[in-house]
Amino acid sequence: MPKTVTFDELGPVGLICMHNPPVNAISHSVRLGLLDAIERAQENSSIKVLLIMSGGELFSAGADISEFDHPLGEPSFQQVQARIESCHLPVVAAIHGLALGGGLELAMACHYRLAHKNARLGMPEITLGIIPGAGGTQRLPRLIGARRALEMILSGTPVSASDAGSKGLVDEVAEGDLRDAALNFCNRLAYSELGPRPTCNRTVIDSLDDAGIAAALHPYARALKGRTTQDLVIEAVKASTLPFSQGLAIEATLAQKSLASGESLALRHVFFSERESGKLVGVSSANANQAPPAAIRRVAIIGAGTMGSGIAMAFADAGLEVLLNDNDSAALPRSREYVRSMYASSVKRGRLTQDIADERIRRIRNALELADMTDVDLVIEAVFEDINLKKEVLSKLDSILPSPRLLATNTSTLSVTELARATAHPERVLGLHFFVPAHASKLLEIVRTDDTPPESLSTAFRVAKLLKKVAVVARDSFGFIGNRMMLDGYFREAEVLLLEGATPIQVDTALENFGFAMGPQRVSDLGGNDVGTKARLQLFKRESRPDPYFVVADRLTEMGRLGQKTGRGFYLYPNGSREIVPDPEVISLIEELASERGILRREISEQEIVERCILSLINVGAMVLEEGVAARAGDIDVVWTSGYGFPRHVGGPMFYADTLGLSHVLQRIRHYHERFGHYWRPAGLIERLADAASNFEQWEGSSASRS
Ligand code: CAA
Repeated sequence: MPKTVTFDELGPVGLICMHNPPVNAISHSVRLGLLDAIERAQENSSIKVLLIMSGGELFSAGADISEFDHPLGEPSFQQVQARIESCHLPVVAAIHGLALGGGLELAMACHYRLAHKNARLGMPEITLGIIPGAGGTQRLPRLIGARRALEMILSGTPVSASDAGSKGLVDEVAEGDLRDAALNFCNRLAYSELGPRPTCNRTVIDSLDDAGIAAALHPYARALKGRTTQDLVIEAVKASTLPFSQGLAIEATLAQKSLASGESLALRHVFFSERESGKLVGVSSANANQAPPAAIRRVAIIGAGTMGSGIAMAFADAGLEVLLNDNDSAALPRSREYVRSMYASSVKRGRLTQDIADERIRRIRNALELADMTDVDLVIEAVFEDINLKKEVLSKLDSILPSPRLLATNTSTLSVTELARATAHPERVLGLHFFVPAHASKLLEIVRTDDTPPESLSTAFRVAKLLKKVAVVARDSFGFIGNRMMLDGYFREAEVLLLEGATPIQVDTALENFGFAMGPQRVSDLGGNDVGTKARLQLFKRESRPDPYFVVADRLTEMGRLGQKTGRGFYLYPNGSREIVPDPEVISLIEELASERGILRREISEQEIVERCILSLINVGAMVLEEGVAARAGDIDVVWTSGYGFPRHVGGPMFYADTLGLSHVLQRIRHYHERFGHYWRPAGLIERLADAASNFEQWEGSSASRS
């Protein structure tokens, strides 16, 4: 087995180097290697200073998260840190790339820290539902103060090396070669009087009061809604003013509690599912190069509407050159204005400098003819949702662009298979389903057809990686993964509940209390009720089946109550405000629509609203899975947590179903099936898994879903 930690003697410096690709996670073998190297160095009288560095692209992404589900082998991380801290030789950490979580905790247990100027240092544990459990809550306050430490842990976002330098987290920021700078630092240290400087011996310069805690929590109030990890973080950081060993013991108890929490199990599930979803089923990372992706440097987007412009921005943000084409002569200048205004607002909010915004705008160039597209690596069409228009555009592109370069359609409603087969090379046409706003949304659904080979999917994965988006593969079918579950499950049920007696605000509040970023009716108003109606018409046409459910939303569209953009939809938005105001007229409309259908409205509890909306989501999710539209339950969870506002800390609908227990899920679905009839028919997969006392996590899927 290759060594994950090496030790070299460089004059008075003992260089300990971690090599644990891909991210230098501090796994059991690294802990053993570190301990062993320190022991060896201590016995070597010619060594005066120890230097800890890493190979690869980053210092360390922290503890090995995959070890969290099992008892950790000795030595523990804390034992290694205690050994470093008590070492009679000064120990220096030199950080490049990233030092995250346990990676930073390791560095903080060292006596001195250097960071390359491009390095970033952070405590992302809260995003995994855990607290920094390897001394982080005790050492960070000793280095930068309790209030700043709390802010850094709550944010979960890394800080730059220069920020870390000004906070006192690192002693020196290196401009040039880090190894040279670190050896230089160590040589100076070897011949100075400074010696070891254990962080644990420092005192915390401030303590946390209620006002300080409230101020630190304030920026994250929305992100942490419904979460509990922050309470444990606060308790642990408060303990940092106690003697070190006492604080460490409190941290250990709280860390165990956080690790065992449902929130952490759910967040870790999403973390690994997001990484898994970007891989071909059945192809391990080691074999991924069996289907090598094509390089992507220049892309072309056809259709310069809001979606096309947003996609162009996504590529410009990733540093790629973009050609934008539209056959409507007014569309390109309109798009340029739109792109400028979007970047101007990012500059105004301090997210970008003007120079960077200008650079990105320059990367998007207009192309007046499709024939200009010959030397791009990928073309995405985002023209109007009209099957004949899209077929025509794709066929033309197919004759211009040399094969096998990828052609993608951004359709959300049409058959990708039909579009692909209108070209001479259906194997290179797939769907790239972006979500609004395309430059900012995290999710990218990659829609494969029966003609899509692994190479095309690998290239699509590469596109997602370039754009820093989470990729999920869906088989071409009605609504793909997300919209199918939304229309046939979640939104449908929300609409039915309105007719049965709930009000829009009740439905939205119930689901927002469950953890959704926004309730379904607010989402409809935000996206535009007309947009929803149009998309549903197209989609249901694809299936030649009726849509009897969205009567309220469709009537609002007919009435011109299109949502936020017209100041009226399910709610009122007075004077262009984004705040919702319930409208009695909408309640009267719903009552009228219900009575036309002979529905006697009744009081509906919050619990019933949540149960019906979530169970219908789960039920359709199970159908999506057994039909092979999604290959893994985790893929569905990724779609819903990254694209549809499902709370990450609940893990996604399928993970949540597993936590409820599938026999309970089935029993409740059967209950609603008896009450409401056919559309609550339980998915066969749920019945089979519940009968076998199994769950979605264990489900391997049929061979059909994995080809
Ligand atoms: N432990 C185990 N595996 C990890 C890992 C970790 N801390 N961090 C990343 N990986 C794995 C990923 O699962 C992935 O594996 P596969 O290739 O098998 O899918 C691989 O490393 C590469 O990761 P990414 O695809 O995410 O690569 P990237 O370049 O896009 O991102 C990264 C790199 C920014 C480091 C990102 O992986 C990341 O954010 N990792 C998690 C960092 C984190 O949360 N650290 C805290 C850990 S908890 C801790 O340290 C607790 C403590 O207090 C002791």
